[in-house]
Amino acid sequence: MNSNREERKSDEAAFWNAEVTHQKGFRRHFYTVVNDYLWNQMMRQVGDLRNRRVLFIGCGTSSVITREMAERGAEVWCVDISPDSIDQLMKHPFGALRSRIHPVVADAEDMPFEDGFFDVVLGKAIVHHLDINRFINELERVCVPGALIVFSEPMGTNPFINMFRWLTPKSRVPTEHPLMPADVKDIQKHCGTLHRCYNFLFSIASFPWFFMGFHRVGRLAFAIGCALDRVVFALCPPARWLAWNITLSARLQKKG
Ligand SMILES: C[S@@+](CC[C@H](N)C(=O)[O-])C[C@H]1O[C@@H](n2cnc3c(N)ncnc32)[C@H](O)[C@@H]1O
Repeated sequence: MNSNREERKSDEAAFWNAEVTHQKGFRRHFYTVVNDYLWNQMMRQVGDLRNRRVLFIGCGTSSVITREMAERGAEVWCVDISPDSIDQLMKHPFGALRSRIHPVVADAEDMPFEDGFFDVVLGKAIVHHLDINRFINELERVCVPGALIVFSEPMGTNPFINMFRWLTPKSRVPTEHPLMPADVKDIQKHCGTLHRCYNFLFSIASFPWFFMGFHRVGRLAFAIGCALDRVVFALCPPARWLAWNITLSARLQKKG
């Protein structure tokens, strides 16, 4: 690993270690509805997990979704570069499911697994922290041919959201790169049909309600906004590039 890359990885781990104890106040309520929406969408795409080996990549502290995958019958490897996130995740009382949950501190671009080990890969808000080609090559190594991959990631194509990011640099790791169309194409090169689901445009306008502490109104505004988003993205394809997030699902295909 060259020193530049080493530095990038240790910055990532330090940032996310600190986030584990960071209080986010009203942002937490907004992100809870956003995350619940995305996890539900991803879990619908994952489907049946009985006897599947799942790589939960960049898992952070996401205990609820870890539990759900184990309850659906999967054996889950929770992988994250931040040791504090993994510690926090494993404080969750998984009970009898614990034996099916395997915490691993590792770099997604260089994982300690044998070839052809995983059937399913799930990751939210992780790919945009990585060198995409390196990561997908590593996935091709650790997964069986035809493994299902499901990722949900922020997009970098809405100028207003990009301006917000530019105004709030401390909220993110400097090296992260919300996905651009070229990144999606890079992922596509390694897959069969790549299903894309675009999320969040008008629904983002629910944010001020959470800011003012009106969480119930915020949740209602979010739900109405999501319904409107779905209609707009279906009827007007160019508007999809204004979406905040994209959920991708596909079968991995080894390059010939
Ligand atoms: C935006 S957080 C998302 C956490 C969780 N997936 C969620 O959606 O709540 C990004 C996560 O990716 C992890 N991460 C960043 N770079 C990584 C890498 N190279 N390998 C593994 N995990 C990484 C971070 O430690 C952090 O937990």
